Amino acid sequence: MPSDRPIGVFDSGVGGISVLAALRRELPRERFVYFGDTLHAPYGTRTPEEVLTLTRGALGGLLEKGCKALVIACNTATAAAAATLRSEWPDLPIIGMEPALKPAALMRHGGSILVLATPMTLRLEKFRRLYERYGEGAVPLECPGLVERVEAFDFEGAEEYLRDRLADHLDPAPDAVVLGCTHYVFLRPVLGRILPAATAVVDGNEGTARQLRRVLSERDLLNETGDAGGCDFLSSSSDPAALDTMRRLLRLADENDI
Ligand code: DGL
Repeated sequence: MPSDRPIGVFDSGVGGISVLAALRRELPRERFVYFGDTLHAPYGTRTPEEVLTLTRGALGGLLEKGCKALVIACNTATAAAAATLRSEWPDLPIIGMEPALKPAALMRHGGSILVLATPMTLRLEKFRRLYERYGEGAVPLECPGLVERVEAFDFEGAEEYLRDRLADHLDPAPDAVVLGCTHYVFLRPVLGRILPAATAVVDGNEGTARQLRRVLSERDLLNETGDAGGCDFLSSSSDPAALDTMRRLLRLADENDI
C-alpha cells in the first residue's frame, strides 16, 4: 500500500481535533482526513451497540477515501468498538485511545487521580481492566453533558460545569487529573483556572501520536517525503458551521499547544 495515502482520524465530533493537532506535530509530512460524526454526538450516553455501528460506518467511510491507517480519536468509540473492528479488518492499522491512567499513576505521590470521561468509557470492560492495573488512588468521574458544551464552543458553560463537578474533589488537591475524553483536552485552559498549579493534567494525545508513528513505521507506511501536513475535514452534519468549528478548534489547539 503506498505510503502517501492519507491517515483517517475519527471522533464523534470535534474532540478528535485535539488529537489531530498532536498527530500533525508528530508526523508533519503525513496527510490527514478528519471525520467528525457531529450528527450523532455525543456517543458517551448512547449504547455500546449503537456506538459500534456508528464507528463501523465512520471507519468504512474513511477507508473509501483511501486511508492507509485509522485513528479512533475517541476514548468512548475505542472502548465500544476497537476490538471488534480490528477483528473485522485484520490488515488495517487501527489506533485507539484510552484514558491516560498509566502515565498519570507515575505522577501520583499518595494523593488522588481524578479520571474525567464519558459514562460509557468508565463503565465498559476496557476501563475496568485499566483501573485494576493502574487505578490505585484513582477516582473515576463521569461527565455527561460536558462533550455537548465543547461541541457548542461553550467554554463558559464548561467552566461552570467543571467547577461544580470537581468541587468535592479538590481538598486535598489531586495529584493528577486525567482527561479521558478527547473533547476535554480543549478544556485545559479552563482547568488551569480551577485546579491548583501542583495538579498535573494528563491526556493521551501525544502517546497516541507516538503509537501511530510506531505502527506506521513497523508496516513501512510512514510518509517521510510528503508536503507538510494537509488535512481535509468531513462531518456527518450538513451544517457548514460544523466544519468551521473544526478548523477553528485546530487553530486553537495549534496556538495553545494543546
Ligand atoms: N471525544 C469522545 C471521547 O474521547 C467523546 C465521546 C462522546 O461523544 O460522548 O470519549
